Amino acid sequence: MPGSSITAVVRPAAADDVAAIARICSTAYRDAYRDLLPEGYISRSVAEFYSEQRITRDIAPAVPDWFGYQVVEEDGRILGAAGGGMADTTAGELSLIYLEAAERGRGLGTLLLDRVTEQIRDAGGTEMWVSVFLGDSRGIGFYRARGFQPMDTVRATLSREDDHIRSLRMRRDLAG
Ligand SMILES: CC(C)(COP(=O)(O)OP(=O)(O)OC[C@H]1O[C@@H](n2cnc3c(N)ncnc32)[C@H](O)[C@@H]1OP(=O)(O)O)[C@@H](O)C(=O)NCCC(=O)NCCS
Repeated sequence: MPGSSITAVVRPAAADDVAAIARICSTAYRDAYRDLLPEGYISRSVAEFYSEQRITRDIAPAVPDWFGYQVVEEDGRILGAAGGGMADTTAGELSLIYLEAAERGRGLGTLLLDRVTEQIRDAGGTEMWVSVFLGDSRGIGFYRARGFQPMDTVRATLSREDDHIRSLRMRRDLAG
């Protein structure tokens, strides 16, 4: 259909992308979980994972545990970021995926997911996992639409004993 084609490309992030990644991930994280998670937990997580300092450290790959940040870019603008790595020899993990709010729902998240999936396959992965906060119906809906099944729940990363924040572990087979 004219006008609906995606001209965006996914590529490994470079040092110049750090500020855009930090802004997109911090903003999207706050927006996505404002009504779901305590403010203290959100601030702690954003400071831990999405500061420019932390992203500068994480931008490059540390294979096989981390394939490095991937970004989706269109007309010279960074619109989203994702990253993943191997949890063991056969299981890959999608660690994060975030887009600019105005750019959701037109296939860019799928492009990023496809890139990380390809990296996991190339590293010998036969299955792929992702953690999503329990109650995050949009996130869970996206992963379900892309073939992930809910498996079990775990205490969320950085969640303290009294926060009671839990994540749903979802799994997708990569065989075939
Ligand atoms: C989640 C996110 C990365 C998805 O990217 P996106 O570009 O919006 O998604 P896409 O357009 O590639 O594809 C969306 C697919 O998921 C489906 N989908 C999305 N939300 C859904 C929902 N709540 N219920 C059912 N299906 C849903 C769409 O129908 C579409 O599938 P289709 O193409 O087969 O119709 C993006 O919306 C985002 O950054 N959201 C905020 C942050 C977030 O929630 N991150 C994930 C937390 S772990």
